[in-house]
Amino acid sequence: MKLALIGYGNVGRALARLLRRKNREFPFTITGIHTLRHGTAVDPAGLRDDPPFGPRLASIEEFLDAARADAAVELTTLNPTDGEPAIAHIRAALARPMHVVTANKGPIAHAYGALQREAAAAGVKFRFESAVMDGAPVFNLWRYVMPGVKVLGFTGALNSTSKIVIETMESGGSFAAGLAAARAMGITEGDGAFDIEGWDSAAKTAALANVLMEAGTTPQSVSTRGIARLTPKRTQEIARQGKTVRLISRARHTASGLSLRVRAEVLDRCDILACTPGTSNAILFHTDLMGTFGTVSISPGVDQTAYGVFSDLVDLSRGAGSP
Ligand SMILES: NC(=O)c1ccc[n+]([C@@H]2O[C@H](COP(=O)([O-])OP(=O)(O)OC[C@H]3O[C@@H](n4cnc5c(N)ncnc54)[C@H](OP(=O)(O)O)[C@@H]3O)[C@@H](O)[C@H]2O)c1
Repeated sequence: MKLALIGYGNVGRALARLLRRKNREFPFTITGIHTLRHGTAVDPAGLRDDPPFGPRLASIEEFLDAARADAAVELTTLNPTDGEPAIAHIRAALARPMHVVTANKGPIAHAYGALQREAAAAGVKFRFESAVMDGAPVFNLWRYVMPGVKVLGFTGALNSTSKIVIETMESGGSFAAGLAAARAMGITEGDGAFDIEGWDSAAKTAALANVLMEAGTTPQSVSTRGIARLTPKRTQEIARQGKTVRLISRARHTASGLSLRVRAEVLDRCDILACTPGTSNAILFHTDLMGTFGTVSISPGVDQTAYGVFSDLVDLSRGAGSP
């Protein structure tokens, strides 16, 4: 299967490494790479490792036509406000028609339903396992493993930056020191406000609700409060009671419809959503047939994000039957 990569940063490069490592068993070929500032590289016969980049082609359409790939892999920077230009990139690929895989949660949080319909109309697949919890199975779990089970709601500790800030304050550091530590670990988007004010969690909540609960929502419709008002003093008081704080995403059905919210919640230290270390994430699904169960990912990094993209590509290359 031939691949056109849109975006070649941390995840794009990790994916290229993974494809090289598994090439014998899974023979994918990268025929094009398109970036914002580094330019474009194209060879329909297959690019060599670490290819030289020429000038940036003028449009995404020109790039996709030149790369002549079977699938586009959208790995550009997240735009939490409206998911663009990633949504336009995905639409251009679906229109060719090419399969699309993305790790970018913006398009799933803002335009999932429309993009899935466009993919179906074009007879191609649209996949996004890494958009929430990297390569740990979340979306593909529901696509393949749980026939007949309905998701009634979910509860997740899905933001790493807030957790590092809280852990730093619990051990005597300042809010700013916690944020600096998270930034040094490379897990914080931009200036960190996006994580601290809860918008990263809101985008993940909207993405999960759109895919698993057909919510047709956006991050702006998630009731969101972050951890900005949390202080070291309050955090330490809570810690002395054997508890901690986590930024929690919740989805549940209520009498007035689907409730989606992000809040800093006080949890027992042994709560499953509180006890995973460092950058780990956890989500619990509340279901009709399987009660409550979940997925945990311990200290994921960019290689696990790349794996989620890879798993989607393998699925497509095998002629994935489900939408
Ligand atoms: N890093 C993670 O662990 C992780 C985990 C889960 C999901 N994700 C998601 O995966 C995506 C990629 O993350 P990353 O860490 O690889 O980001 P990154 O290192 O910032 O790389 C972004 C890439 O996108 C390119 N780009 C930006 N705007 C573009 C445009 N308009 N047209 C073409 N290329 C464009 C950039 O080009 P230049 O190189 O020229 O600047 C760069 O190559 C993001 O949506 C992120 O939210 C990342």
